[in-house]
Amino acid sequence: ALPRDLEGVHVAVSAGGTREALDPVRFLGNRSSGRQGYALARVAAQRGARVTLVAAHTADLVAPAGVDVVRVGSALELRDAMHTVAETADVVVMAAAVADFRPVDQVEHKIKKTERDPDPVALTRNPDILAELVAARRPGQVVVGFAAETGDAGTGVLDYGRAKLKRKGCDWLVVNAVGDGRAFEVEDNAGWLLSADGVETPIPHGSKARLASALWDAVAPAVQPRP
Ligand code: C5P
Repeated sequence: ALPRDLEGVHVAVSAGGTREALDPVRFLGNRSSGRQGYALARVAAQRGARVTLVAAHTADLVAPAGVDVVRVGSALELRDAMHTVAETADVVVMAAAVADFRPVDQVEHKIKKTERDPDPVALTRNPDILAELVAARRPGQVVVGFAAETGDAGTGVLDYGRAKLKRKGCDWLVVNAVGDGRAFEVEDNAGWLLSADGVETPIPHGSKARLASALWDAVAPAVQPRP
């Protein structure tokens, strides 16, 4: 049986990939399935947490039992939803794949192919929601981020992860090694769990449910539910 070590704890998890509209029928998106965020929400609920899952576009996934699901589309919608739920959450996990950029213009009608030349789409930067949630964090609130990294010559996945943990300022960062059947559109993940206190736990190649359990094993002892 799973431990009930998240009883009385309110957990907010974001999942899936945001879609940034070009017009009413077209968008810029990404390949996130939402599976890791759903697994985090499911395992947290099984361990006794009250869970709010803020879901952008996902594969056809079954909503975990006992979890409140809030559906969003764009990064700006996800941002609003996360800021609202973060007001009461004890733990905030950003597992969503948030688009870094969105089109400057969202055209009200479907763009006709005769209407404009195939010129580049002008993009503007989306806010870094994780960094905003860290800045708005209440005392005692735990903020967890994700990073999908590939190792390059000289610099490994772990080095990138350590740098991102510092830059984002979150309490925990799950670093996923991308590629070779890991992370995107696949069942499995592998990587490291890094804490701001310098604890580095390797996560062996395994299911997204296993990774979720490893994260809650690490985070649960650090969470105090709000009085
Ligand atoms: O910087 P990078 O996109 O690799 O960081 C990934 C982490 O930051 C994830 O937790 C993701 O959910 C979050 N993120 C965000 N807002 C963005 C981009 C990423 O919250 N605009």
